[in-house]
Order: sequence, then structure tokens, then C-alpha cells
Amino acid sequence: MEILKTVIPAAGIGSRFLPYTATVPKEMLPVLHKPALQYIVEEGLQSAINQFIVITSRNKEQLADHFSPSNELQALLEERGKKDALADLKKIIRQAHFTYVRQHEPLGLGHAVLMARNLIGKEHFGIMLPDDLIVNPANPGLAQLIRVARQEKGSVIAVQEVPASCISSYGIVGIKKQISPSIFQVSHVVEKPDPKDAPSNLAIIGRYVLSSKIFASLEEMGTYATGELQLTDAIGHMIQQNEKVFAYKIQGIRYDVGTPIGWVKAIIGMSLQDPAYAPHIKSFLADLDGAESFLYNSQKSIEHVR
Ligand code: UTP
Repeated sequence: MEILKTVIPAAGIGSRFLPYTATVPKEMLPVLHKPALQYIVEEGLQSAINQFIVITSRNKEQLADHFSPSNELQALLEERGKKDALADLKKIIRQAHFTYVRQHEPLGLGHAVLMARNLIGKEHFGIMLPDDLIVNPANPGLAQLIRVARQEKGSVIAVQEVPASCISSYGIVGIKKQISPSIFQVSHVVEKPDPKDAPSNLAIIGRYVLSSKIFASLEEMGTYATGELQLTDAIGHMIQQNEKVFAYKIQGIRYDVGTPIGWVKAIIGMSLQDPAYAPHIKSFLADLDGAESFLYNSQKSIEHVR
């Protein structure tokens, strides 16, 4: 099973980050020194994917600009000694092929994926949501799914166990059969269920490897969908058409950078793993409640002045 392409849906409004997203795409939010989208492309490349179909919308030209840096920027990075940042960008320029497709109206994730139909053909393909960063240097997230897709000869959705209090925020999978401790054949999918009606605690997160049959299901759903066209609904439809779909408990730390709280957690969590940031952030966090806090405090300010 050859899997060379991935779709990156990035045409959402990003309302949870308004007013920031009125002028800057949320995919360009920095997580340490790189935009969220760059982590996604790097995970794709590490998973042996080199064709990226980015679904964009009006005012998101910055996404393409980032992966096409000017000679001036490259010279500046060189001059300022930012060799690693330059090497990372050059690797992307050398290895990744980007196609940008416009979604003219934000009609949902399923509709965004449907925009890639003519570029995919008959093969299985990846979908990576830039809202979800998966950190696993030894075993990149999408590569894990590709392995399972080849092994099980079917479509694969990444899942994570979530507590009952979070179930109503996710698509949840129903289990037909357990294949291994981390692989399950899916019977059906339910979008954002009440926890008491949820078929499991396995929540769908932003990585997929899907059969191209998803496009027929999306088209069929589209004919009677009202409002947004959901990918989860189309996956359910595909299962009803006898397509084998597996859920795989993805291994790695996942950060949801689609919400301000998740984004802050990503910055703290990832900085604690980076030797250039970790000592500073550790002492900052340790000092927050401690006697040595140098955050604003009227008494302390006076001491500092002295
Ligand atoms: P979300 O449901 O998080 O929507 O989309 P959003 O617009 O990005 O953010 P909020 O909810 O308004 O804060 C999940 C993924 O699907 C893409 C988004 O870009 C994101 O990667 N998407 C969503 C589209 O590409 N098009 C759409 O019409 C909707």
C-alpha cells in the first residue's frame, strides 16, 4: 500500500482564537520558535510523506509564504547563526511538495477534505489536522498510522483515551473487535456524544489514513448534510459500505493547539523538553508561588529597586 500524500485542512475560521485569527491564521501560532504548521509538515516528512495538499482559505497566504522563504530571510538566518532553523527550512524546501487548494466557504472538515479529491486518485492518503501536535521523536504519529494501515489493509483513525468529562468534545469510536492492545476494528463513530451514550472512551484525534472511498461517502453525505459536512459522519458511512476502519491508540504526547489553553500547555510542555528553554521555564514555574517570585508584587518591586 503506497501512501505518499497527506491532506492538511487549514481553512477553518479559528474562532476560539479571535481576535488573533482575524488577521493571522492559527496554523501560524508559534510554538517555541516555529509555527504549528511546520511541526505538522516535519512529522509528515519523518513519516515518508512528501506531498502535502494544504486546504486554505482567504487571507491565509502566510502558510505558503512560510515554506517559501525569501533569499533575504535565508541570508539573515545564516548571518544570525540560526543554523538549525535554516537547516530545518531547507530540508522542507528540498523534500516537500506543496499544493494549495482553496475552500471558499468554511463548510466543515469533511468538506475541506473533499476539496482534495482530484489530487488523490485511488490510493490511501493521510490527513493531519494542524490543531493536534503529536510529539514522538522515535516514532512519528503519522508513520504509526501508516504502519497499521498496511498491516490491517484498511483505513486507520488515531484515537486517545479521554476522561468522561471530555467525551462530549470529540468524535468517539464504537468497537467491533479488538485486534491488539492498541488496535481496534471500528463498528461506528459518534460525533460529540453525551458521555452516558458514548460507545467507548476512545476519542478521535487529528491523524487519519483513509481509503479514497471516503470521497464517495463525503459526496453522498453532502447531498443531504445541513450546515457543516463532518468527516466523522463520512467515516461512519464508509463503514456501512463495508470499508474496514481501524482505531489505533497513537503513541506520543498530544497537544491540542486549537484552543488557547491547549496552546499554552504545548508551549510549556515542549519547552520543558528543550534544553535551550527548560532551565528558564523550570525556574520560572518553581518561582511562581515561591518567596523568590519576581512577578509583579508591590512589596517585591520596592525590594528590587533597592
Ligand atoms: P475546527 O473544528 O477546530 O474549526 O476545525 P476551526 O475553524 O479551525 O476552529 P474554531 O472551532 O472556529 O476555533 C478542525 C480542523 O478542520 C479545519 C480547520 O482548519 C482545522 O484544522 N477546517 C474546519 C477546515 O479546513 N475547513 C472548515 O470548514 C472547517
